[in-house]
Amino acid sequence: MPITQAAREDPLFDALISTAVDGIVVIDEDSIVRVYNKACERLFGYRTDEVLGKNISMLMPLPYREAHDAYVGHYLKTGERHIIGIGREVSGRRKDGSTFPMYLSVGEGHVLNQRIFVGIITDLSEHQARDKRIQELQLEMWQLGRLTDMGQIAAGLAHELNQPLTAILNYTNAGRDIAAESGDKELERIFAKVAEQTSRAGAIIKRLRSFIEKREPHRVPEDLGRVIEDSIRLGMTDAAERGVDLELDIATGLPKAMIDRIQIQQVLVNLMKNAAEAMEDSPRRLITVGTATVGEDLLQVSVADTGPGIENEIADKLFQAFVTSKRNGMGMGLNICRSIVESHGGRLWAEANPGGGTVFRFNLPIAKDEPVA
Ligand SMILES: Nc1ncnc2c1ncn2[C@@H]1O[C@H](COP(=O)(O)OP(=O)(O)OP(=O)(O)O)[C@@H](O)[C@H]1O
Ligand SMILES: [Mg+2]
Repeated sequence: MPITQAAREDPLFDALISTAVDGIVVIDEDSIVRVYNKACERLFGYRTDEVLGKNISMLMPLPYREAHDAYVGHYLKTGERHIIGIGREVSGRRKDGSTFPMYLSVGEGHVLNQRIFVGIITDLSEHQARDKRIQELQLEMWQLGRLTDMGQIAAGLAHELNQPLTAILNYTNAGRDIAAESGDKELERIFAKVAEQTSRAGAIIKRLRSFIEKREPHRVPEDLGRVIEDSIRLGMTDAAERGVDLELDIATGLPKAMIDRIQIQQVLVNLMKNAAEAMEDSPRRLITVGTATVGEDLLQVSVADTGPGIENEIADKLFQAFVTSKRNGMGMGLNICRSIVESHGGRLWAEANPGGGTVFRFNLPIAKDEPVA
């Protein structure tokens, strides 16, 4: 009795095979397909009746196709395994000739005195697309991170330097007046030079600030839940190693937010990193990221931790540049977060978490003129 028929006669086997999410293919010693399930129809685009009784190589792209029979023959002769009992990433070929990445694990067995090979197939296209997207996002974040960090530091420096430069200019002008009154032409000339160079330094700084402020963010309607998930994938890859649990509390049916995705990811990554760093010595390490709507126009995101709370000396200058309690901290994270949120017309603040720890919350505008899909 052929294997396929035996299978059809067992309803449990039939149900198992046809409801499996992964593709299942059974071939015999001659590489002829004996079982081909529903998931395979979706994966390869061939109907069952187009594949049963044919050589499995039709589901493989070149060069696997040509190598396959030789490989099975070699295995039957020598018992040398490359894939049987193991599994590996290979390519599948669809009916339309296109290929896709798949994970194939192959087991060997005997049914009705015939040797069979059972292949379980998992489609990896989505995994690959996701990996690629993560790589792209990481690159974008890295680029933006550098730009914003540098921009912020430059803006901070420009602000700090402006005051002493103005003072130098005032003192120099006063010195020049005194030199002029006392008739010391040489000293007057030197003071004039100092004033000129100081003005030049001031102009450079002014140009730098206007250059930084000119960078326009790119704001479009975005799904906040997705932005949060991306941020976790990007920024919290080492959460498990740090012993940090992450919980999402994302409201369903939220309207889209009008945001620059990468900038908001940067805010989320910064807040989650701070939360993880704060909980290093805490017995319970949980970060909860939540979303909610506030009134008609605003969305609110919260990042809560179970850490020790914010140190008293820092509490009232948390968002200032270069304020840090960490040995290797720059103290720029929250400063950058706040300016990003404020540039979106929102607000960022910290509260004590009622169960212990800290909650950072920020508001973002809802996208209003979103076209109906
Ligand atoms: N979740 C939190 N719990 C407790 N304290 C926090 C938390 N987040 C921030 N802080 C405090 O605020 C300070 C400033 O944070 P900020 O992110 O601006 O700088 P940083 O983390 O010290 O350095 P970096 O520039 O690398 O981010 C921290 O050093 C820490 O003391
Ligand atoms: Mg930080």
